[in-house]
Amino acid sequence: MSFDLIVRGGVLADGRQADIAIAKGRISAVEPGITAEAGTVIDAAGKLVSPPFIDAHFHMDSALSYGRPRVNASGTLLEGIALWGELKRIQTREDIIARALKYCREAMGRGVLAIRSHVDVTDPAFHTVEALLEVRDRIKGMMDLQLVAFPQDGWFRAPGGSAQVIRALDAGVDVVGGIPHFERTMADGAEAVRAACRLAAERGLMVDLHCDESDDPLSRHIETLAAETLAHGLQGRVAGSHLTSMHSMDNYYVSKLIPLIAEAGVAAIPNPLINITLQGRSDTYPKRRGMTRVPELLAAGVTVAFGQDCVKDPWYPLGSGDMLDVAHMGLHVGLMTSPTAMRSCFDMVTAAPARILGLEFGLHPGARGSLVVLDCADPIEALRLRPARLAVISDGTVVAQSEPMQTTVRPFGGP
Ligand code: FE2
Repeated sequence: MSFDLIVRGGVLADGRQADIAIAKGRISAVEPGITAEAGTVIDAAGKLVSPPFIDAHFHMDSALSYGRPRVNASGTLLEGIALWGELKRIQTREDIIARALKYCREAMGRGVLAIRSHVDVTDPAFHTVEALLEVRDRIKGMMDLQLVAFPQDGWFRAPGGSAQVIRALDAGVDVVGGIPHFERTMADGAEAVRAACRLAAERGLMVDLHCDESDDPLSRHIETLAAETLAHGLQGRVAGSHLTSMHSMDNYYVSKLIPLIAEAGVAAIPNPLINITLQGRSDTYPKRRGMTRVPELLAAGVTVAFGQDCVKDPWYPLGSGDMLDVAHMGLHVGLMTSPTAMRSCFDMVTAAPARILGLEFGLHPGARGSLVVLDCADPIEALRLRPARLAVISDGTVVAQSEPMQTTVRPFGGP
């Protein structure tokens, strides 16, 4: 018997050592000592072999635009939205496609093989949606791109915002989005949540809202989102992104809220790099950290995934597409330093986002032949070192390879 590809001697996240054989894009066998031949053999002896990284929250239409037409001087969410409004007027469809493809290559090199990207549907020219639909087609077979119809300037606040969401879904965008905390009033925000859930129920779609992305402890749209999820029977299909206001909420209120989120099967998608830099901007000291209550949500059984959110755009000047950087920051901000918590941080950029996006996941016979070989031995070392992705394999094809990072240190300190 022969296979298309065999990854030899790798260590799975649970510590088992096994060869992984892939044929016709699917995993055929996961067991030690596979003797069969293969067209391609990857030596992964002693190296961590993981399912690919998945980014549950990104903005590909603004990625790599930093400095155009200027930088965000205040560092706030609101100046970022205003700045993006200026860029929307001057960027072309081709600009967006070129930047998005460049980003996809960077992320793929770091082992990311699926991204959920919000796409701003309130671009009057609709360049953003047309560009990302084309990017989705062009990277098909290498990377899964799921698009969220995101009315950046508001479902109701933007002229024609709700109609633009529907136009984007009709054009092939996958998920219903929204930004209730940016509507003019709390009542409008709640109505936007209801409208998004109603539309998703009618069309059989998923929902992912930018929800309560502020330090305002009274921003409680997540409560409405959970209630509407239950009312429409959308359990398991809805995510609340950011949820930063929960960081600042009253503890008694949160003791009621988190069980409601869990009961509704609503997932949470914090974005640690962005939450830690956009929130707390109006504080003196102590400065709030802005990330939602990740350990408490996990303890209640809520699915939580960490997202990258932004890379070099109006909201964030850094970012590399490396989900290990994202998990590393989430681990620190969430004080998640126990061995179990650190492993769950690795899960939050692999298994958990797969559940939220509805993707196949895992390294078992019959699964997609997609995996990453890392230059370390286990998930905790992956978080500590954020090492080279030695090989990235998508549906049985090697799509990226890296050399180990090598440093030679002059001998010192005795024998
Ligand atoms: Fe976002």
